[in-house]
Amino acid sequence: MKPRQIVPNVHLIGAVDWDRRLFDALIPLPDGTSYNAYFVQGSEKSVLLDTVDPSMWPTLAAQLDELPAPDYLVIHHVEQDHSGSTPLVLERYPGITIVCNEKAKAMLVDHLHVDDARFHVVADGDTLSLGDKTLTFLFTPWVHWPETMSTWLEADKILFSGDFFGSHFATSDVYAVKEEVYAGAKRYYAEIMMPFAAQVVKNVEKVTQYPIAVIAPSHGPVYDDPSFIIEAYRDWSTGPMQNVVCLPYVTMHDSTRLMVDHLTDALAERSVAVERFDLTTVDLGELASSLVHAGTVVIGTSTVLTGPHPLAANAAFVANALRPRTKYATVIGSYGWAGKTVETLAGMMPKLKVELLEPVLARGLPREADYAALDALADTIAEKHKDLAPRR
Ligand code: FEO
Repeated sequence: MKPRQIVPNVHLIGAVDWDRRLFDALIPLPDGTSYNAYFVQGSEKSVLLDTVDPSMWPTLAAQLDELPAPDYLVIHHVEQDHSGSTPLVLERYPGITIVCNEKAKAMLVDHLHVDDARFHVVADGDTLSLGDKTLTFLFTPWVHWPETMSTWLEADKILFSGDFFGSHFATSDVYAVKEEVYAGAKRYYAEIMMPFAAQVVKNVEKVTQYPIAVIAPSHGPVYDDPSFIIEAYRDWSTGPMQNVVCLPYVTMHDSTRLMVDHLTDALAERSVAVERFDLTTVDLGELASSLVHAGTVVIGTSTVLTGPHPLAANAAFVANALRPRTKYATVIGSYGWAGKTVETLAGMMPKLKVELLEPVLARGLPREADYAALDALADTIAEKHKDLAPRR
């Protein structure tokens, strides 16, 4: 694609990676992604904001052929999908100066062996004049790494936000269509931002002190209605938890499935929504999205030897890493002769500030008493969820 104008002298460049299906060897990308770079031309100086994943360098290079040589390269975030082509930019423009913060500089030196002499280091709130346009650098740590920062372009009220407010969503559109991007932006928040929800809140409040007409993130479409994504971030990071049970499960011989089915029905009869995920086929992004709003997590697992099934252990590991604001958690499942499933899974989620509800474990095929225990669990969850928000 050719450079696309956002406003006069500000262009979206970069690359849409339509076919990428996995990020960080972990995160599924059902909708592909993009690596957005931007070009700002001032009356005296010009700046390239971020680069692209090195695999897409030829795409960015072809766009740069149509633009003047930039004086500066701003690096918002050192993860390779944005900074990975930095050495190629430096080679192409021997006079260009990298503008970034001290932490980003150290990371660029470590990860890409960038020459120490190529940097102009900025502090939080510093400005850089391009002539008729001025950039203001706002440190926004932990969205997604400690060095992440945003850039505010006062003249056009554009916030270049890096990963912050992004989405793994390949599109030929410049601007977000809200209905299309919401789910992708939410799963992106869940996968990337949720572990740092407290910092997200602070950074949202920090950047919104500045007038913003457009948010231009490093992934996915640009927002010409910033309030849409700003309000979504406020909701995901601080909004009320919902009357939803997130129920990831794995079953080997269907005893656990019978229990999961029974609990699902029991919860539905009590007007509690259930979001179920078969861990043998689950898209981790969908599970993560559910964790953003689910009031309760119930892990359903068979027993392997004396512990949880490895897929259930992985779900617990992921939940612990993502640190959702879920309020309650428990375990259901079946075992053959003995087990430490509950202790093992609970021990794997120390970062979750949850109240543990009474687990339900059946020896072999569940009996009436096990189903009664699941009914009691459903009663407990329905009671605990009385004050939560309805599912949206
Ligand atoms: Fe899109 Fe954290 O990199």
